[in-house]
Amino acid sequence: MKNKTVVVTGGASGIGEATVKLFSSAGANVVISDINATTGEELAKKIVAEGGNASFFKSDVAIAEEMQALVDFAVNTYGKLDIAVNNAGIGGEQNNVATMSVEGWQKIISVNLNSVFYGMKYQISAMLKSGGGGGSIINVSSILGAVGFAGSAGYSAAKHGIIGLTQTAALEFSAQNIRINAVGPGFIDTPLLKALDAELKSELVALHPIGRLGKSEEVAELIFWLGSDKSSFVTGSYYPIDGGYLAK
Ligand code: NAI
Repeated sequence: MKNKTVVVTGGASGIGEATVKLFSSAGANVVISDINATTGEELAKKIVAEGGNASFFKSDVAIAEEMQALVDFAVNTYGKLDIAVNNAGIGGEQNNVATMSVEGWQKIISVNLNSVFYGMKYQISAMLKSGGGGGSIINVSSILGAVGFAGSAGYSAAKHGIIGLTQTAALEFSAQNIRINAVGPGFIDTPLLKALDAELKSELVALHPIGRLGKSEEVAELIFWLGSDKSSFVTGSYYPIDGGYLAK
């Protein structure tokens, strides 16, 4: 990963944080982006103190101009963009389709789906300009990109949408060697699940044949592989990483 520039949205916590750490430990220049500047800056400082190359850039993935600014920052700081991980996301309003608020619907689609379009729009443009070197984009979907989950209509619709967007963009840019894939984590023990009580958490555990929730580091390994040249023949794919959740 030496001389590779990687952008990770939502890089200050959970799956994004584990991804940032893995890429930077492999020698990449990593741009950590998040709306939470405090934890994002702390993480960048820690990586630099340990001898890695990382910078923090605050951006809200739901705002197109901020996604453009993030890509510009990466290119201006490190000269090019090689790998982008569109990871930032929220759980959103938990209601059924009849009771979900219109604002709740719009918010989840905006943060979890529009964000991936905005991200790819500017990331692909930057990769195309970087002299034919191609690139790799990894979009973080979910098992709920493949099946529904009562109470999570907006989340599930956004995560399904990411897969269609991933496949389409992969078809459009495979000739330029820009590979675009999606990952579909099962329930992962991150701060995203902090609102859940112990009973609900153990109900979620029971949905995974492997008998536990996933770890951020396990998802980061898959993202890292998709970002690396070791996955050079892989594009337009959706990879569940779910302890068997979807196998039932
Ligand atoms: P997390 O809550 O630990 O981290 C998400 C990060 O995104 C936070 O640092 C947060 O500040 C940032 N963020 C939130 N809204 C943002 C915005 N508008 N702009 C920029 N940054 C923003 O969550 P986790 O679990 O690491 O989730 C990461 C991704 O993985 C999300 O897309 C989530 O939907 C997905 N995922 C998570 C699963 C889980 O069970 N934890 C399961 C499947 C997918």
